[in-house]
Amino acid sequence: MNLFKRRLKKIYFLLYSSIKEAIDFVFKYILGLFCNFSILFFCKKLFKKRYLYKVNATKLFRKARLFVEIGSGHGELAKFLSRRNLDTLLCTFEIKSRFYKKTANVLKKYPNGIAFKSDGYKDLLRLFANNSVNKVFIMFPDPWNKKRHFKRRRITCKWLCKAVSILSTAGELLIVTDHLDYYRFIKEQIANCLCLKKQGVDIEKGKYIPEKLNLVQTHYYKKAIKRGDIPRYFLIKRIGA
Ligand SMILES: C[S@@+](CC[C@H](N)C(=O)[O-])C[C@H]1O[C@@H](n2cnc3c(N)ncnc32)[C@H](O)[C@@H]1O
Repeated sequence: MNLFKRRLKKIYFLLYSSIKEAIDFVFKYILGLFCNFSILFFCKKLFKKRYLYKVNATKLFRKARLFVEIGSGHGELAKFLSRRNLDTLLCTFEIKSRFYKKTANVLKKYPNGIAFKSDGYKDLLRLFANNSVNKVFIMFPDPWNKKRHFKRRRITCKWLCKAVSILSTAGELLIVTDHLDYYRFIKEQIANCLCLKKQGVDIEKGKYIPEKLNLVQTHYYKKAIKRGDIPRYFLIKRIGA
């Protein structure tokens, strides 16, 4: 698939999702003011079946699997994953322009990768249908280490529950951090998360060595090792359907 076609599909993907969101908003907030809740619920269900579905990304890009990376940074993992998995669509999300451009540049050469410049935590839930993503990678997320910034931490129980429902059966969510306090925060979120347990997940954790998980050393991994920090990981596997 050439670059132009890939870009067109990306635009369609984003445009469709935005229109879908706008219609969803009308149902939720505007019609909600005038209609009886049960009528609204019924109409929405009917309408949703026909029009409010999410685009099937793997079908649109004609790939067998779907991987997502949030916070792609310099793009090392994106390059590694897209080169190794030609049958897989890789969507990367990066919020900073400079790093988005870096990743997009790397992915130009690979027909199975597309880079988005957006909030990946939000867009993972917004763009992809439930049970559709095979793997999600979050390598060295911003730790927000000041107490007054703790509320900016994105990997919470609430987010994890929604993210796990986006995973396919046997799908995986990998989180790696070298920040001990953020590691403890995530551990606590997982331990006290009832809805996560209800969904049926298997959680593996430990010291992160990229080669052991068949992954590549990223920029922040190298930085952590140089500083003498220990990167740790959580691998959340969805086992329930
Ligand atoms: C510490 S860096 C890690 C980069 C890369 N994963 C690595 O291992 O070298 C965190 C990256 O996440 C990006 N980021 C932070 N919040 C984000 C968000 N909400 N959506 C997408 N990317 C985000 C930052 O811009 C930054 O590039």
